[in-house]
Amino acid sequence: MLRPLKRRRLSKRSALNPQSNGNPRVSVTIPKIIAHRGSPREAPENTLASFRKAKAAGAKWVEFDVALTKDLRPVIFHDDGLERTSDGEGLLADLDFEAVKHLDAGSWFDRAYAGEPIPTLEETLELLAALELGFNMELKTDSGREAELATIALPIALDMWPAHLPTPLISSFSRIAIASAREVSSTWPLDVIYDRIPQEWAEDAKKLELVAIGANHKHLTREQVMEIRGAGLKLSTYTVNEVERAATLFQWGVDAIFTDIPGEMVRRFGA
Ligand code: G3P
Ligand code: MG
Repeated sequence: MLRPLKRRRLSKRSALNPQSNGNPRVSVTIPKIIAHRGSPREAPENTLASFRKAKAAGAKWVEFDVALTKDLRPVIFHDDGLERTSDGEGLLADLDFEAVKHLDAGSWFDRAYAGEPIPTLEETLELLAALELGFNMELKTDSGREAELATIALPIALDMWPAHLPTPLISSFSRIAIASAREVSSTWPLDVIYDRIPQEWAEDAKKLELVAIGANHKHLTREQVMEIRGAGLKLSTYTVNEVERAATLFQWGVDAIFTDIPGEMVRRFGA
């Protein structure tokens, strides 16, 4: 039985900023280990079952991908196409929620998870709050609805997430989505994710009021870590599934890794 959530008042851009100078966003405390899509080697990714496994594995935070159905319901799903992680066909963005909610997002992984649904954002936040699991919500955009996703998903999270739990991190590969998130909330921490960190990362950070940057660890250099950390930003890297690589990244000064093996990483590095 889930406890009813305490409602957090919606924070509008017009609200007073907590600081008059510099970045007005609350600084984020991110744990070292972020369970990527839950614990996707133990349960189907981006499902409630996967988030429960991440909690059992000792993770303090999970990362999940939020995307829109055709009729604008935010659900937790990674790919554009439905085939890899559900029994649906075609694009998530072409299907109404009424159809999405009947899809099986578990059988592809293991028959033991047959019937596991694609969760809604609301169901996910309720579970995470009940488990006291922090989160990084990645806005997984489809072309043309980048701003819309932020303006639909973020108010739900702002409204539902209990104030006593850790402030989450809102991220996206889409600068348009993050620019829109910036308008929706004047305080929640924002993060742009890059595959290769571009020349203009510092410009993005200033313009979009970022508190953190996400980067593909495969292209990351020690110099970039020093520059980004030196600029006062947090740095997370994805997707790190080798303990030795994680040790190197932490030694460079990376704040957090997204990993598919949260249990093993927590045992090695602490949560
Ligand atoms: O935010 C880290 C990671 O989730 C980004 O890549 O494709 O796994 O969503 P992806
Ligand atoms: Mg993601």
